[in-house]
Amino acid sequence: MILITGANGQLGHDFQSVFKENGLDFIATDYMDLDITDIESVREFVKDKNIDLIINCAAYNNVDKAEEESEMCYKLNAYAPRDLAIVAKEIGADYITYSTDFVFDGTKGTPYKEEDSVSPLSVYSEAKALGERLVLEAYDKSFVIRTSWVFGIANNNFNRQVINWSKGRDVLSIVDDQTSVPTYSYDLALYSYELLKTKEYGLYHLSNAGIASKYDQAKYVLDSIGWKGTLNRGKSSDFNLPAKRAEFSKLDSTKIEKVLKKNLPTWQSGIDRFLNEMKEKGEL
Ligand SMILES: NC(=O)c1ccc[n+]([C@@H]2O[C@H](COP(=O)([O-])OP(=O)(O)OC[C@H]3O[C@@H](n4cnc5c(N)ncnc54)[C@H](OP(=O)(O)O)[C@@H]3O)[C@@H](O)[C@H]2O)c1
Repeated sequence: MILITGANGQLGHDFQSVFKENGLDFIATDYMDLDITDIESVREFVKDKNIDLIINCAAYNNVDKAEEESEMCYKLNAYAPRDLAIVAKEIGADYITYSTDFVFDGTKGTPYKEEDSVSPLSVYSEAKALGERLVLEAYDKSFVIRTSWVFGIANNNFNRQVINWSKGRDVLSIVDDQTSVPTYSYDLALYSYELLKTKEYGLYHLSNAGIASKYDQAKYVLDSIGWKGTLNRGKSSDFNLPAKRAEFSKLDSTKIEKVLKKNLPTWQSGIDRFLNEMKEKGEL
């Protein structure tokens, strides 16, 4: 049996879709059913359920708020992922959890590989970097997946923000000095599932193919929905956000592509499918 934590989030929701499409049984839990920061509750929950895979989709994702809520951020992004790894080991289940391109400081200038040294710039990134290390030290049957700029139907994300900002506005300004890859949570779930089947445990980068600045992403979304306004190029310094972000944090997904013998879909294809999902749900 598969246990999903944080199942109401973007990734958790899409894992449920992938498993339904593949006829697999799973137990989907979110905060109200199973608080991952309480290891004893997790131990109790997994008892007698024959769990052979734990998928941790729960996380603290508010990068700016984390600067003032560091304790909560560390609990959710570092210690809880480690505790889940410990429980997975106790019951002999495989384990997968997620990290971020933000563990890098962006100074490399070319796509980041798994073996590149981390150098986090914010509380959120420090907590995620610690979480990765603690998980990999705690349990050798763990997968740790770094991904970037996730968007999916089940939660708020940059695509949705851009669409909301465009309503009733003729001019928008979006930064062009942050570059990475937008990643569709459905693809993240699907290719994670493919990877899980290989049992080739370890650290992986998994993002959609291609590269984009926030400006490029916004432009693609706005062109796709037929917005007629003017999109200007902004700079991060114009917005003065609490958490520092890397200028260039694109992940190199070659390792997973080699293991799966498959190329990942482009971020543009991910956005096309995401917008279709929004249309189907009457949100566009
Ligand atoms: N979103 C991104 O841009 C991004 C970028 C890089 C990496 N990642 C990583 O990718 C993974 C999936 O992200 P996502 O975007 O799917 O996240 P998400 O949509 O924010 O979902 C996270 C889920 O975790 C739940 N949760 C919060 N605290 C919990 C707790 N104590 N116990 C159990 N569940 C709890 C949340 O519930 P509530 O909503 O009720 O709080 C939410 O349903 C995460 O590890 C994330 O850090 C995301």
